[in-house]
Amino acid sequence: MTQTYTIAVLAGDGIGPEITVQALRVLDLIEQKRDVKFNCIDAPFGASAYFSHGKSFPDVTKELCDSADAILKGPIGLSHEESEKIPVEERPERGALLPMRRRLNTYANFRPISLPAGMAHFSPLKKEVVGDGIDIMLIRELIGGLYFGGKESGKTDEGVRFVKETLEYDENQIRQILVVAFNESMKRKKVLHNIHKSNVLISSVLWNEVLEEVAKDYPEVTVIHMLVDAAATHLCLNPTQFDVMVMENMFGDILSDQGGGILGSLGLMPSACMGPDKAYYEPSHGSAPDIAGKNLANPYSMIGSVALMLDMSFGMESEAKTVWQAMQSVFESGFSTSDLSKGGEGIQLLSTTEFANKVMVALEALL
Ligand code: IPM
Ligand code: MG
Repeated sequence: MTQTYTIAVLAGDGIGPEITVQALRVLDLIEQKRDVKFNCIDAPFGASAYFSHGKSFPDVTKELCDSADAILKGPIGLSHEESEKIPVEERPERGALLPMRRRLNTYANFRPISLPAGMAHFSPLKKEVVGDGIDIMLIRELIGGLYFGGKESGKTDEGVRFVKETLEYDENQIRQILVVAFNESMKRKKVLHNIHKSNVLISSVLWNEVLEEVAKDYPEVTVIHMLVDAAATHLCLNPTQFDVMVMENMFGDILSDQGGGILGSLGLMPSACMGPDKAYYEPSHGSAPDIAGKNLANPYSMIGSVALMLDMSFGMESEAKTVWQAMQSVFESGFSTSDLSKGGEGIQLLSTTEFANKVMVALEALL
């Protein structure tokens, strides 16, 4: 019997819809070539959902996410000026994205920072630093830490405004993300960089204690401890030393954007957000309102998110690899888009659609 998967498609804001359309073409093609059916259902999410439904995470979307086998989500958010038109609590980050992460319990965020040798020209780093390419899996804890701790604001008795924002974890939250990181290391090079700030934060002290306990179950994995500030430097100076990195939510937010920086663009950063029962897939970047609707954005991060979905939710590892290969071959043939490249020097700039057309041709030949 044909395997059928229901996918909730939350195209989001800005460039979201135009790159999502291209990513769905990949699923269509795989359906034609394999005995599988993807039942893709659109749902409103983000600022656009606020304007159409009065909520940035409407109930119909919640219900669809609850029943879907996987969720494909585009970027969300608007320009600063447009955001101001939405009440603070309904703005897409606070009103939709963070509640979704919590609701779906997607505590493990996989952010590949990956640049094969053939795409090394995208990196702002020197050739000798990129070497044979960058291939890091950054694992970010996604539903705890500084993002989700207690928050308070007010005025002191003297009338001075203050805020208090706390970094909270219990040992179980720490253990579950570390287990994910060790398991991922076992599948890769068995080297795990533990990123922390235990010289200042007691949350990192507990994190590292739990790590010592978990590490006992993974004697083959070499753990390298690195302070988060040092890790930021090492990512620039010697990114190829890293294989799997694991860290707290806020650290992961910052270092994963730096990951996009060393690749040359956040547009090269898809991601997977995994929980025990649910997973959703999204680009790590924003909705790029400045180029939205112009058919300029590269669909790599959205198509890459589909590749992660095929691999991690549907067990279609070889098809996922083929999707990566198809996208890389298009870049390696000298094609790009204006959000990623300036053009010239043998690089031909294409529109979103044209770029995706090339990916589809390459994929069709490889599948
Ligand atoms: C990310 C984004 C989000 C985050 C924003 C949009 C709330 O920057 O996924 O990295 O901070 O987690
Ligand atoms: Mg971020």
